[in-house]
Amino acid sequence: MIIVLNNKCHLTKEEFKKYQQELKEITSTHKLILCPSTIHLTNFNLDNMELGSQNVSQFEQGAHTGEISSQQLKSYKVQYCIVGHSERRRENQETSKEINAKLKNLLKNEITPILCIGETLKERKTKQTKQIIKQDLQKCLQDLNNKERERIIIAYEPIWSIGTGKIPTVEEIKEVCTLIKEQLPQNKIIYGGSANNSNIEMLNKIPQINGYLLGGLSLKIDKLKEFIQKVKN
Ligand code: PGA
Repeated sequence: MIIVLNNKCHLTKEEFKKYQQELKEITSTHKLILCPSTIHLTNFNLDNMELGSQNVSQFEQGAHTGEISSQQLKSYKVQYCIVGHSERRRENQETSKEINAKLKNLLKNEITPILCIGETLKERKTKQTKQIIKQDLQKCLQDLNNKERERIIIAYEPIWSIGTGKIPTVEEIKEVCTLIKEQLPQNKIIYGGSANNSNIEMLNKIPQINGYLLGGLSLKIDKLKEFIQKVKN
Protein backbone atom coordinates (compact mmCIF):
# COMPACT_ATOMS: atom_id res chain seq x y z
CA MET A 1 0.00 0.00 0.00
CA ILE A 2 1.00 3.61 -0.56
CA ILE A 3 1.00 5.93 2.44
CA VAL A 4 1.50 9.63 1.69
CA LEU A 5 2.35 12.02 4.53
CA ASN A 6 1.15 15.54 3.78
CA ASN A 7 2.71 17.86 6.37
CA LYS A 8 0.92 20.90 4.87
CA CYS A 9 2.23 24.23 6.24
CA HIS A 10 3.68 22.83 9.47
CA LEU A 11 7.09 22.45 11.17
CA THR A 12 9.93 24.94 11.53
CA LYS A 13 13.52 24.06 10.62
CA GLU A 14 14.31 22.64 14.07
CA GLU A 15 10.97 20.84 14.33
CA PHE A 16 11.48 19.24 10.92
CA LYS A 17 14.92 18.01 11.96
CA LYS A 18 13.45 16.30 15.04
CA TYR A 19 10.49 14.98 13.01
CA GLN A 20 12.78 13.32 10.46
CA GLN A 21 14.80 11.72 13.28
CA GLU A 22 11.60 10.17 14.56
CA LEU A 23 10.42 9.07 11.11
CA LYS A 24 13.73 7.27 10.58
CA GLU A 25 12.69 4.61 13.08
CA ILE A 26 9.68 3.53 11.04
CA THR A 27 10.06 0.22 9.27
CA SER A 28 7.31 -0.92 6.96
CA THR A 29 6.65 -2.92 3.85
CA HIS A 30 4.32 -0.18 2.60
CA LYS A 31 5.55 2.51 0.24
CA LEU A 32 5.95 5.62 2.37
CA ILE A 33 6.07 9.06 0.73
CA LEU A 34 6.88 12.19 2.70
CA CYS A 35 5.53 15.51 1.37
CA PRO A 36 7.04 18.15 3.64
CA SER A 37 6.46 21.86 3.38
CA THR A 38 8.38 23.01 0.26
CA ILE A 39 11.05 24.80 2.30
CA HIS A 40 12.17 21.46 3.77
CA LEU A 41 12.43 19.50 0.51
CA THR A 42 16.20 20.01 0.31
CA ASN A 43 16.67 18.81 3.91
CA PHE A 44 15.07 15.43 3.23
CA ASN A 45 17.42 12.68 4.39
CA LEU A 46 15.36 9.51 4.92
CA ASP A 47 16.14 6.07 3.48
CA ASN A 48 12.83 4.52 4.49
CA MET A 49 10.67 6.97 2.52
CA GLU A 50 10.44 8.62 -0.87
CA LEU A 51 10.14 12.35 -1.39
CA GLY A 52 7.09 14.23 -2.60
CA SER A 53 6.18 17.87 -3.05
CA GLN A 54 2.87 19.42 -1.99
CA ASN A 55 2.67 21.60 -5.07
CA VAL A 56 4.35 22.57 -8.35
CA SER A 57 4.14 25.49 -10.74
CA GLN A 58 1.88 25.31 -13.78
CA PHE A 59 4.76 26.95 -15.70
CA GLU A 60 7.76 25.12 -17.11
CA GLN A 61 10.20 27.86 -16.09
CA GLY A 62 10.78 31.59 -16.48
CA ALA A 63 9.64 34.87 -14.94
CA HIS A 64 7.16 33.53 -12.35
CA THR A 65 8.14 34.92 -8.97
CA GLY A 66 7.65 32.53 -6.10
CA GLU A 67 7.01 29.48 -8.27
CA ILE A 68 8.85 26.15 -8.25
CA SER A 69 8.95 24.16 -11.49
CA SER A 70 8.77 20.41 -12.12
CA GLN A 71 12.27 20.56 -13.54
CA GLN A 72 13.56 22.10 -10.30
CA LEU A 73 11.74 19.50 -8.21
CA LYS A 74 13.22 16.75 -10.34
CA SER A 75 16.74 18.15 -9.85
CA TYR A 76 16.24 17.71 -6.08
CA LYS A 77 15.15 14.10 -6.54
CA VAL A 78 11.48 14.70 -5.84
CA GLN A 79 9.59 11.65 -7.09
CA TYR A 80 5.96 12.50 -6.33
CA CYS A 81 3.85 15.64 -6.23
CA ILE A 82 0.38 16.34 -4.82
CA VAL A 83 -1.74 18.27 -7.33
CA GLY A 84 -5.13 19.89 -6.96
CA HIS A 85 -5.49 19.55 -3.19
CA SER A 86 -8.81 21.10 -2.17
CA GLU A 87 -7.01 23.59 0.09
CA ARG A 88 -5.16 24.94 -2.94
CA ARG A 89 -8.29 24.96 -5.10
CA ARG A 90 -10.12 26.90 -2.38
CA GLU A 91 -7.42 29.25 -1.08
CA ASN A 92 -5.50 29.81 -4.31
CA GLN A 93 -8.40 29.52 -6.74
CA GLU A 94 -6.52 26.74 -8.52
CA THR A 95 -8.49 25.73 -11.63
CA SER A 96 -8.69 22.41 -13.46
CA LYS A 97 -6.87 24.07 -16.39
CA GLU A 98 -3.92 24.90 -14.10
CA ILE A 99 -4.07 21.41 -12.61
CA ASN A 100 -3.94 19.97 -16.13
CA ALA A 101 -0.83 22.05 -16.93
CA LYS A 102 0.82 20.92 -13.67
CA LEU A 103 0.11 17.25 -14.46
CA LYS A 104 1.65 17.61 -17.91
CA ASN A 105 4.81 19.27 -16.56
CA LEU A 106 5.22 16.65 -13.85
CA LEU A 107 4.78 13.75 -16.27
CA LYS A 108 7.28 15.31 -18.65
CA ASN A 109 9.81 15.34 -15.80
CA GLU A 110 8.99 11.81 -14.65
CA ILE A 111 7.49 12.86 -11.33
CA THR A 112 4.42 10.85 -10.30
CA PRO A 113 1.44 13.15 -9.72
CA ILE A 114 -0.97 12.48 -6.85
CA LEU A 115 -4.17 14.08 -8.12
CA CYS A 116 -6.72 15.00 -5.43
CA ILE A 117 -10.41 14.93 -6.27
CA GLY A 118 -13.49 14.99 -4.07
CA GLU A 119 -16.91 16.46 -3.43
CA THR A 120 -18.15 19.09 -0.96
CA LEU A 121 -20.77 18.16 1.64
CA LYS A 122 -23.40 20.07 -0.32
CA GLU A 123 -22.54 18.12 -3.48
CA ARG A 124 -22.80 14.84 -1.58
CA LYS A 125 -26.11 15.81 0.01
CA THR A 126 -27.58 16.81 -3.34
CA LYS A 127 -26.37 13.54 -4.93
CA GLN A 128 -23.92 15.24 -7.28
CA THR A 129 -20.81 13.37 -6.11
CA LYS A 130 -20.44 11.04 -9.10
CA GLN A 131 -21.09 13.76 -11.63
CA ILE A 132 -18.62 16.17 -9.96
CA ILE A 133 -15.87 13.55 -9.81
CA LYS A 134 -16.39 12.47 -13.40
CA GLN A 135 -16.36 16.04 -14.69
CA ASP A 136 -13.34 17.05 -12.65
CA LEU A 137 -11.37 14.02 -13.82
CA GLN A 138 -12.25 14.80 -17.42
CA LYS A 139 -11.09 18.42 -17.12
CA CYS A 140 -7.93 17.71 -15.14
CA LEU A 141 -6.83 14.88 -17.45
CA GLN A 142 -7.63 16.61 -20.72
CA ASP A 143 -5.25 15.82 -23.63
CA LEU A 144 -3.34 13.20 -21.65
CA ASN A 145 -3.01 9.87 -23.41
CA ASN A 146 -3.70 6.55 -21.70
CA LYS A 147 -0.05 5.88 -20.89
CA GLU A 148 0.26 9.27 -19.21
CA ARG A 149 -3.02 8.89 -17.33
CA GLU A 150 -1.99 5.52 -15.94
CA ARG A 151 1.01 7.07 -14.18
CA ILE A 152 -1.17 9.30 -11.98
CA ILE A 153 -2.16 8.26 -8.45
CA ILE A 154 -5.74 9.36 -7.78
CA ALA A 155 -6.43 10.54 -4.23
CA TYR A 156 -10.13 10.47 -3.42
CA GLU A 157 -10.52 13.10 -0.73
CA PRO A 158 -14.08 14.12 0.17
CA ILE A 159 -13.59 17.82 0.98
CA TRP A 160 -15.89 17.57 3.99
CA SER A 161 -13.73 14.81 5.46
CA ILE A 162 -10.45 16.71 5.47
CA GLY A 163 -9.45 17.54 9.04
CA THR A 164 -13.00 17.01 10.35
CA GLY A 165 -12.93 13.46 11.72
CA LYS A 166 -15.88 12.56 9.49
CA ILE A 167 -15.59 10.05 6.69
CA PRO A 168 -18.02 8.53 4.17
CA THR A 169 -19.37 5.00 4.67
CA VAL A 170 -17.63 1.98 3.13
CA GLU A 171 -20.38 1.82 0.50
CA GLU A 172 -20.00 5.51 -0.38
CA ILE A 173 -16.22 5.20 -0.77
CA LYS A 174 -16.63 2.00 -2.83
CA GLU A 175 -19.07 3.75 -5.11
CA VAL A 176 -16.63 6.59 -5.87
CA CYS A 177 -13.68 4.19 -6.29
CA THR A 178 -15.74 2.11 -8.74
CA LEU A 179 -16.51 5.24 -10.72
CA ILE A 180 -12.82 6.20 -10.81
CA LYS A 181 -11.90 2.64 -11.90
CA GLU A 182 -14.44 2.85 -14.72
CA GLN A 183 -12.68 5.94 -16.04
CA LEU A 184 -9.16 4.86 -15.14
CA PRO A 185 -8.94 1.05 -14.77
CA GLN A 186 -5.16 0.94 -14.35
CA ASN A 187 -4.67 3.74 -11.83
CA LYS A 188 -3.85 3.42 -8.16
CA ILE A 189 -6.47 5.00 -5.90
CA ILE A 190 -5.69 6.26 -2.41
CA TYR A 191 -8.12 7.62 0.17
CA GLY A 192 -7.62 10.85 2.11
CA GLY A 193 -9.66 12.77 4.68
CA SER A 194 -9.54 11.99 8.41
CA ALA A 195 -8.06 8.54 7.91
CA ASN A 196 -6.97 7.45 11.40
CA ASN A 197 -6.60 4.57 13.84
CA SER A 198 -10.32 4.48 14.61
CA ASN A 199 -11.45 4.03 11.02
CA ILE A 200 -8.56 2.07 9.44
CA GLU A 201 -10.19 -1.31 10.17
CA MET A 202 -13.20 -0.16 8.21
CA LEU A 203 -11.11 1.35 5.39
CA ASN A 204 -9.11 -1.91 5.17
CA LYS A 205 -12.30 -3.57 3.96
CA ILE A 206 -12.39 -1.55 0.73
CA PRO A 207 -10.56 -3.58 -1.92
CA GLN A 208 -10.29 -0.70 -4.42
CA ILE A 209 -8.14 1.39 -2.05
CA ASN A 210 -4.39 1.18 -2.67
CA GLY A 211 -3.29 3.50 0.12
CA TYR A 212 -3.87 6.67 2.10
CA LEU A 213 -3.12 10.39 2.07
CA LEU A 214 -2.63 11.55 5.65
CA GLY A 215 -2.69 15.17 6.80
CA GLY A 216 -3.11 15.61 10.56
CA LEU A 217 -1.94 12.09 11.37
CA SER A 218 1.37 12.63 9.54
CA LEU A 219 2.48 14.93 12.38
CA LYS A 220 1.57 12.62 15.28
CA ILE A 221 4.39 10.10 15.17
CA ASP A 222 3.08 7.52 17.66
CA LYS A 223 -0.37 7.45 16.12
CA LEU A 224 1.16 7.38 12.65
CA LYS A 225 3.27 4.32 13.53
CA GLU A 226 0.18 2.54 14.83
CA PHE A 227 -1.74 3.44 11.65
CA ILE A 228 1.03 2.16 9.38
CA GLN A 229 1.01 -1.14 11.25
CA LYS A 230 -2.74 -1.44 10.98
CA VAL A 231 -2.90 -0.85 7.22
CA LYS A 232 -3.45 -4.20 5.54
CA ASN A 233 -0.80 -5.48 3.19
P1 PGA B 1 -6.45 14.97 7.10
O1 PGA B 1 -5.95 15.65 5.74
O2 PGA B 1 -5.83 13.60 7.16
O3 PGA B 1 -5.92 15.89 8.18
O4 PGA B 1 -7.93 14.94 7.06
C1 PGA B 1 -5.85 14.92 4.56
C2 PGA B 1 -5.39 15.83 3.45
O5 PGA B 1 -5.73 17.01 3.46
O6 PGA B 1 -4.66 15.40 2.56
